[in-house]
Amino acid sequence: MESTPPRLQVSNLVRRFEGRAVVDDVSLSIAPGDVTCLLGPSGCGKSTTLRMIAGVDMQDAGTIHVDGELICDTVFRVPPERRQIGLMFQDFALFPHLSVGDNVAFGLKGAKADKRRRAAELLERVGLVHYIDEYPHQLSGGEQQRVALARALAPKPRIMLMDEPFSGLDNRLRDGIRDETLSLLKEEGTSVLLVTHEPEEAMRMADEIALMRDGRIVQQGAPYNIFNAPADKAAVAFFSDTNELRGTVHGALVDTPFGPFLAPGVHDGAQVDIVFRPQHVGIDFDRGGRAPNTTERAGTPARGVVERARFMGSESLVEFRMDFDGGLIKATVPNVFLPRKGTPFWLTVRRDRCFVFPVD
Ligand SMILES: Nc1ncnc2c1ncn2[C@@H]1O[C@H](COP(=O)(O)OP(=O)(O)O)[C@@H](O)[C@H]1O
Ligand SMILES: [Mg+2]
Repeated sequence: MESTPPRLQVSNLVRRFEGRAVVDDVSLSIAPGDVTCLLGPSGCGKSTTLRMIAGVDMQDAGTIHVDGELICDTVFRVPPERRQIGLMFQDFALFPHLSVGDNVAFGLKGAKADKRRRAAELLERVGLVHYIDEYPHQLSGGEQQRVALARALAPKPRIMLMDEPFSGLDNRLRDGIRDETLSLLKEEGTSVLLVTHEPEEAMRMADEIALMRDGRIVQQGAPYNIFNAPADKAAVAFFSDTNELRGTVHGALVDTPFGPFLAPGVHDGAQVDIVFRPQHVGIDFDRGGRAPNTTERAGTPARGVVERARFMGSESLVEFRMDFDGGLIKATVPNVFLPRKGTPFWLTVRRDRCFVFPVD
């Protein structure tokens, strides 16, 4: 039986500017109806990738397929307007001289009445049908954004490409608009490639995250997997604060002040970094200098004194200066926990929540 091809398949895409590969062998795929977030720091090549998929820039190598059909390689190229790909960028611009309804109907073909019906249907979905005969300047920023989304979706694109579409909105509006946008995209069954540099946005929106760095896709998978099985140290650090311990492997174990950690498959004498998030550091009060007991799950407690404690809203972030090397370890504690600088504590590390990476 033949399986359905991905809605979008990008294979080995390369784009060079002045000899530098800004997009360097990028492959990614999107299943029909899925939202994939292309997530990475500013300058890593996200927009360049999107522009090639849209057809407004051309790759130096690689291919792009939509529903199994070639739309672009280095010789053949379907023009942008024939790709059935919708675009939405941060600085989307509505046509100021057209009514809201005409803005939404702009890319549609056919009879006037049909175009108006489709425009009204989408405006209804974004809760703005009552503005159909108003003009863009009469709408708030958030409302204009929803009109732009309706306009991009009106021609029923096979794929929507969205480049940091929410970054122009203020924080108060953003979460609401993200959620509305996501439910509309899901109702329409549109496949989406959404570019963002914000991990929270990707976690909130994505079925899959493609993590990009220096022109390459480092990892693609469900948000849960990217968060809990990160490909490397930088992938951990992109999503949260981290702590790090360096050690040397002996017999697939690394000895640390927090007890031994497993380093399966790493040869003797190799150096590894043990990386863990502040949520996975346990803390215990010091009882007259006596360490709490070592346990299987938490390992050996190590002593540190409070360097700094800050209230972050739903949790507190406490930094400890460790006795064993004078370095800092961060721990988060739910709610308000603001011990004074210099107070001693015993720290433990959840060994099942650590990531061990060979030092390269
Ligand atoms: N037309 C261009 N000419 C030269 N360099 C470019 C061009 N477009 C982008 N770049 C460079 O490519 C890199 C990636 O850019 P971009 O894809 O916009 O990154 P992102 O969207 O991830 O922030 C940047 O270093 C940028 O300066
Ligand atoms: Mg960009």
